[in-house]
Amino acid sequence: MGHNTGGLPSNLLITGASQLLTLRGRVPRHGKALSDLGIVKNGAVLIRDGVIAAVGTRAEIELLPEARAAEKLDVGGRVVLPGFVDSHTHLIHAASRAEEYELKIAGASYEEIARKGGGILTSVKKLRAATAEVLKKRAHAALGEFAAHGTTTLEAKSGYGLDVASELKILRLHRELNREQPLEIVSTFLGAHVVPAEYRNKPGGAERYVALLTERLIPEVAAEKLAEFCDVFCDRGAFSRKESKKILQAGKKNGLLPRIHAEQLTRTGATQMAVQLGAASCDHLEQVNKADIQALGKSKTVATLLPGCDFHLGLKKYAPARELIGAGATVALATDYNPGTSPTMSMPMILSLACTQLRMTPAEAIAAATINAACSVLRDHKIGSLDAGKQADIAIFDVVDYREIPYYFGVNKCWMTLKKGRPVFHKAHT
Ligand code: NIG
Ligand code: FE
Repeated sequence: MGHNTGGLPSNLLITGASQLLTLRGRVPRHGKALSDLGIVKNGAVLIRDGVIAAVGTRAEIELLPEARAAEKLDVGGRVVLPGFVDSHTHLIHAASRAEEYELKIAGASYEEIARKGGGILTSVKKLRAATAEVLKKRAHAALGEFAAHGTTTLEAKSGYGLDVASELKILRLHRELNREQPLEIVSTFLGAHVVPAEYRNKPGGAERYVALLTERLIPEVAAEKLAEFCDVFCDRGAFSRKESKKILQAGKKNGLLPRIHAEQLTRTGATQMAVQLGAASCDHLEQVNKADIQALGKSKTVATLLPGCDFHLGLKKYAPARELIGAGATVALATDYNPGTSPTMSMPMILSLACTQLRMTPAEAIAAATINAACSVLRDHKIGSLDAGKQADIAIFDVVDYREIPYYFGVNKCWMTLKKGRPVFHKAHT
């Protein structure tokens, strides 16, 4: 069975889990609480009309009259958990950048390639030339892969258009895809990815592009309700801290909440600026200093770590996850699915990297990829844990112990994914 499987009715009783990871309890998860998965042994979930009606032990739930009438799904000793919330992706792009992958292996750095007009600008050229249909087809295929790896909600950023028509084309696709397929897409405007070629190396070019964003595009995106968030790539070769602040403030004024690509390649001070603006999330954070870590620890801003980038680029300096957790930051994990730095749709692979490279425990990594990621997209009241009243967004893994989810890598152990109680992926013949 593939994506969009339909099948089971929405009144469903799930039983037979070796471990049911509810993730119920404190929201968001900090410090020691990050390891609390709220495990119920021999647990059961009762789903009514796509919503979780009850969660508990099999004995408790089976006593409910409604449970008797529901369709049964015995998962045969597998592990059941909330669907992953992938809180940072660049879903819409036209093509891979496999040619650059080879250049990077030969020694060229990400920034060198970008300086020569490759990198993001290559993806911009290709996206501008692509029709909405072609982009949509590629996105549909990617969404099938996300579902097949246990993801039920993802944030998606524009940012490979960088002109009015192309940015709107991407954001409108987010809206159409939300209507046409089962996974939820949370839309973010990233017009401030880099300064596009037509504004580069021209007197006042960057300034004029920032003005286009703040005076024209942001108000238009907000008026058409095409995004909930506004993001900026604040780094060397992209936008300065000052420009980023201006863009995020314009977003805020128009009702788009800030999130930011911060301290990825160089330390710019973006983190503390974004924390002061009340950003929902600061993402990447490889180059943060002690003061940045402290600021995140004291704030409500989620620290989203993207170890897929460092892995794919062959970089050794991963974000200091242990220090961030120690300082009390709300740590989340995401794929950063994009053609330049992290071409993966697999949250389980990100969990594997979080464990071996960020030294997070399997339990911490799972909480970071579910309930804390739900906080970063302001949906923790609806998703991220298996609690009565929340959406029945569920991933079922073909393992007996949750630690085996990151333990196995490079193979897909996801067995079934349910969105609002309906299967959107089911592995065939197992
Ligand atoms: O999150 N850092 C900026 N944006 C992406 C990469 C985009 C690209 O290279 O196409 C990121 O790593
Ligand atoms: Fe990104």
